[in-house]
Amino acid sequence: MSEKAQLHLNGKVYELPTVTGSEGEKAVDISTLRDLTGYITLDDGYGNTGSCSSAITFIDGEKGILRYRGIPIEELAVKSTFVETAYLLIYGKLPTHPEKARFSDLLTENENLHEGMKHHFEGFPPSSHPMAMLSAMINASSCFYPGLMKSPDSESFEVQAARLLSQVRTIAAFSYRKSRGLPFLYPKPAYKYTANFLYMMFSDPYGSYELKPEVVRALDLIFLLHADHEQNCSTSTVRMVASSEANLFASAAAGVCALWGPLHGGANQAVITMLEEIHASGDDGRRFITAAKDKNSGKRLMGFGHRVYKNYDPRAKIIKAASDLLLHTLNREDPLLDIARKLEEAALGDSYFVERKLYPNVDFYSGIMMRAIGIPTEMFTVMFAIGRMPGWIANFKELLDERRKRICRPRQIYIGPTERHYLPPEQRR
Ligand code: SDX
Repeated sequence: MSEKAQLHLNGKVYELPTVTGSEGEKAVDISTLRDLTGYITLDDGYGNTGSCSSAITFIDGEKGILRYRGIPIEELAVKSTFVETAYLLIYGKLPTHPEKARFSDLLTENENLHEGMKHHFEGFPPSSHPMAMLSAMINASSCFYPGLMKSPDSESFEVQAARLLSQVRTIAAFSYRKSRGLPFLYPKPAYKYTANFLYMMFSDPYGSYELKPEVVRALDLIFLLHADHEQNCSTSTVRMVASSEANLFASAAAGVCALWGPLHGGANQAVITMLEEIHASGDDGRRFITAAKDKNSGKRLMGFGHRVYKNYDPRAKIIKAASDLLLHTLNREDPLLDIARKLEEAALGDSYFVERKLYPNVDFYSGIMMRAIGIPTEMFTVMFAIGRMPGWIANFKELLDERRKRICRPRQIYIGPTERHYLPPEQRR
């Protein structure tokens, strides 16, 4: 029998049920609160509010733990691939050989865009941000695949999920080629997921681009580490849109828009801009740290801090080590990596950051790794979106499979004017 929470309000005592998750995290179930008391709860930024129960990803922010369907991210980073991890997140288990083969075949069969979608790219100005193109083109898919409008059964969901996961890569590559005035390169069925993406991004009709295994592996790791992260801003957005029974592509397009913000997925691009500014100014990082602590400076140490992690983001640890290895393997130096290391050292020794438990998050080093791979800065958040797609699809499916589907519709506390009446223009002040 779960323990009860007691709420003492206006001389009355109310009892509310509690819920305990499989890792022991606890919640007060307030679904009857308003009926019982007439009160709602208020929680700015939802820092204390669970929007759902989910079996996909577990994070322990105090201990810096991240597990996809129970498997630690550190194990998946070494032993798995992005596509296999995507299957794990979406279907809840690691695929058998036949399951993996079918999933891979579906990704290949669905890797090309509908030919009519290509014309949309002609309408975008060359200066268009690829995240704008990505969200627009994902949503436009619903126009070319009318079957998407129907709520999917399991068989059609499997195809829709594979199409979205496969085509997000093609749309991203075409957006990049458009921005550079380069011809589109169609995916090669013989190439696996990440290699095909790099081929579509960087190859040329006369084929001079060399697919280096260490570069392919590095980008595959970036995708894998971004694959899901419980109810972050963009995933919650996907769930919000999906709760109205909008289709998978419309829900994912909304997720792309939420991810774009510099406080969320846009942080990886903001980190590199910050490091480049520090590098150009000749600052060894200390001046910037001082500014980042000053609320009036308008500066933040981008790539630092997290709503859930009050310890080192385990993904940041993995990416930091992988960046070092990739630069060494490619026999390359990056002055921004040295600056990032100095910033981290300075911040982790500074009481402002220590007291607020601000540590490097996934975005602090991911940009360094993507620079080493050759990804242009304006495409960094697009890489995040490709990586996060399995998580969005998994959350969409989890919500779809729920027996009792309720549209997400939060309440509010109204603080506007009390009743007043219409005034003709001559009486207005
Ligand atoms: C991602 O949710 C997820 O899981 C997201 C993500 C995912 O995989 O989906 O992990 C990906 O979005 C990572 C976060 C990327 N964003 C950044 O790196 C931007 C910089 N970070 C911050 O803006 C901030 O830390 C957030 C947005 C990440 C978290 O914001 P919170 O939880 O609302 O924290 P807050 O703004 O209330 O900060 C608490 C205090 C404040 O100071 P005080 O009012 O207590 O004096 O810490 C300060 C903040 O001013 N603070 C920072 C800071 N982050 C927080 N001060 C300087 N630099 C920072 N980076």
